[in-house]
Amino acid sequence: MSQAMEDLFSVLRFPSISTDSKHAGDVRACGEWYVEKFKGMGLEAQLHETAKHPVVIARNERKEGRKTVLIYGHYDVQPVDPLNLWDSEPFEPVIKDGKIWARGATDNKGQHMAHLLGVEAMLKEKGELPVNLIFLLEGEEEIGSPNLPAFLEERKEELACDVIVVSDTGMVAEGEPTLGYGLRGIACCEVKVYGPDKDLHSGVYGGSVANPATVAARLMASLHDEQGRVAVPGFYDEVVPLEDWEREMWQSVPGMDDADLLAVTGSPALSGEEGYSPAERIWGRPTCEVNGMWGGYQGEGSKTVLPAEAGFKLSCRLVPDQEPATILQRVEAHLMAQAPEGVRVEIEMGHSGKAYVCDPHSEEGKAAQDALKDVFGKEPVLIREGGSIPIIQSMKEILGVDTLMLGLALPDCQIHSPNENFTVENFEKGIELCQVLLEKLG
Ligand code: BES
Ligand code: ZN
Repeated sequence: MSQAMEDLFSVLRFPSISTDSKHAGDVRACGEWYVEKFKGMGLEAQLHETAKHPVVIARNERKEGRKTVLIYGHYDVQPVDPLNLWDSEPFEPVIKDGKIWARGATDNKGQHMAHLLGVEAMLKEKGELPVNLIFLLEGEEEIGSPNLPAFLEERKEELACDVIVVSDTGMVAEGEPTLGYGLRGIACCEVKVYGPDKDLHSGVYGGSVANPATVAARLMASLHDEQGRVAVPGFYDEVVPLEDWEREMWQSVPGMDDADLLAVTGSPALSGEEGYSPAERIWGRPTCEVNGMWGGYQGEGSKTVLPAEAGFKLSCRLVPDQEPATILQRVEAHLMAQAPEGVRVEIEMGHSGKAYVCDPHSEEGKAAQDALKDVFGKEPVLIREGGSIPIIQSMKEILGVDTLMLGLALPDCQIHSPNENFTVENFEKGIELCQVLLEKLG
């Protein structure tokens, strides 16, 4: 195995699950690994404390007259359950069928390690980089980066840069270089419906009191209309419509046909907001999705119970210029207005972040397009992403800098799911891409 692959395997072995406090030590240990690695590469590196998981910052010597590039990534990962659906252990990486299998292989360890190793290769070969370089790796992305905005605010001067580079997004299809120039925002909440003060016999009392599970189902159903639009009043008020050039460009994006999406999602049919193509629905339109729901008996067989409570988790994906707090207020007002007498509804607000969009044709955007073309041998596709990386908009607001998103995740890489994987090919191409890009930006 190459040293580069050994290094990737080393980081993949850390179960750095940021949402699970039992793994806080693993997140930290993973961060410490990077500090040592960066120091070994001749960079100045340090682990910085936050209220939760630490941030790793590494840099070369800052020289006048050179562009400053900040490469961002996250070394935390999502939980691994359900474990029984994995074909191999999530934190014991293996290579099979040309892919590296492990939690974090694509999201995001594999992708940012490609940049780290690209920088290492350049330093080894030339002893110098064409740019002033800052690496910023955080351990809280998968929980919404709660401490990073304040951290950036405190260190604005130190982190001043000309452009940010991130590989934490997707390629539309294998072999199709993709430059992301937007991300959807996100706004999460949890809804709880309380009825009787204990679970009741559904025969003895059913029919006489409201059933919280039925109410929760009605509330969830009230979120969309027959046209697949979000039915929350005011939900679309600030939405910036898609531009004509985008709609046109996205008509022929590889990997986004109905057949491609049916295959990759495994769904029997596509569904969504009427009047928009799947690419437009995912990249340019806001949504409201139920991410989880509960209430009543879940075990084997039947138990005739009228549950005391039920609930669900929601997340809205947002587009420019939707404001997360405003959207959550409107969702709350809508749900409260739908709630019948006989239950108490409580809504707890979760994490959120704004959408991001930039100009893919800027000077740096063109450099990124050129680098993608050189490495993959094809003109890149320009897309916005359906997923969210809220800190990218925060970096725009705090550091005043745009981000180039050079996605290396493939549609079937299964991020956040069992059997996450990263192709060896994209790992190697990523290492090359970083070097080509730094040359062009320098
Ligand atoms: N890398 C993803 C985001 C992503 C994936 C963007 C694929 C585009 C294509 C990131 O790690 C992620 O999962 N973000 C979360 C948001 C966060 C606030 C929990 C998301 O999108 O759900
Ligand atoms: Zn993720």
